[in-house]
Amino acid sequence: MLRYFFLTKQGSPLSEKTRYYQQAVESLLDSDQKRALVRREDSGGLWELPDASAHRRVLNLASNDYLNLSHDSRLLEAVRGVSTTAAGSSRLLSGNLDYHLELESKLSGYLGGESALVFGAGYLANLAVLSALPSRNDVVFSDKLIHASAIDGIMLSRARHRRFRHNDTQHLESLLRDEQERISDGSKLFIVVESLYSMDGDFAPLSEISELAESFNAILVVDEAHAIGVIGPEGRGLVASLGLQERVDVITGTLSKALAAYGGFAVCRAHIREYLINSARPFIYNTALPPMQAVAASVALDLLCKNGTSGLCQNGTLGSQLLERAESMRKFLSDRGIPTLASASQIIPIPMPDAARAVLLASRMAERGILTPAIRAPTVPKGSERLRLSLTLAHTVSHLEEVADALAEEIDSISGKGT
Ligand SMILES: Cc1ncc(COP(=O)(O)O)c(C=O)c1O
Repeated sequence: MLRYFFLTKQGSPLSEKTRYYQQAVESLLDSDQKRALVRREDSGGLWELPDASAHRRVLNLASNDYLNLSHDSRLLEAVRGVSTTAAGSSRLLSGNLDYHLELESKLSGYLGGESALVFGAGYLANLAVLSALPSRNDVVFSDKLIHASAIDGIMLSRARHRRFRHNDTQHLESLLRDEQERISDGSKLFIVVESLYSMDGDFAPLSEISELAESFNAILVVDEAHAIGVIGPEGRGLVASLGLQERVDVITGTLSKALAAYGGFAVCRAHIREYLINSARPFIYNTALPPMQAVAASVALDLLCKNGTSGLCQNGTLGSQLLERAESMRKFLSDRGIPTLASASQIIPIPMPDAARAVLLASRMAERGILTPAIRAPTVPKGSERLRLSLTLAHTVSHLEEVADALAEEIDSISGKGT
């Protein structure tokens, strides 16, 4: 059989079969959409790039290790004490270990829910909950900005999916009314939102949304991935800090951000947990969370929560310290005439006129040793490109001033105002 080969730019043979992918990547390059992996060496909350001559410090404003716990000696020591690297199989086979059960008990206590179920990742938690709970005859209403993992779950459920404008409760209500007239008996309604939006750093109007859920008898799912550990006096998230635990049916979240580990979870009523165990494919067909990750998250919860298992959390200082620092950063930026989107959290987006200038500014900042990534479509809608600053407790106030100064200089230089 005749085989055709082409040479790539690097000189290796390229099969005709897979040529499509090379062309696709080239067209991404042409439209400033190509993403690339950058090698990283671990150096605590900051970042070091391996350089041919010397290590160069990079201030990392792209990390979700919000409380800077990933290098905390208490977490590291606890992980070293774990006797196994892997659970070895799915929870329903032989992988259900005390590490998982202990973490679930802490999570439900911490977030004020009846029970919790952990998953292999935050992505899998959303995929599991939103593919298993809604079914073909149901309708899911979601905020336009919910995370890709939630969208993928909804698509897998085959339910009808209606998206409402970001944080627009009037739009949500009109869609709910519209669908209420059409749905058949027995169909369920779901509302899916994040409490703290990952790309905008703003909060959902959760009290109003939970009232709508109640009046339309809709099941309310709230992704608290970015709020856990940070928001609320004890870092217990927005749902708990607004006292909405009884009104929210499922909280999903990740262990990979403020809890400095890896994995995901759902906090919900016990019968929903049982249902998920029996029907959620990302739970049934996935190897159980590695015990080391469960232990790291468990210890992080203890640090946030003086009395980790009872849910009587006393220590809210880490999250509030971070929010104070974010407030200072917003002031540093506004003092220098740099606009930000309406964020009230540790996530501070700086709007950019287009993708090309977002990428240019991010690369100029990187040359100065500051990582402030450009966020473009498809992560955010076209026309809403931005630089996203993600603050952690690794950043000191003087780091933040340095970042604001550098941004001001580079923005001036790009817009032709520089000297
Ligand atoms: C809002 C939101 N939900 C879910 C996830 C997925 O979490 P994980 O990274 O643990 O898979 C993320 C991750 O970035 C997220 O931002």
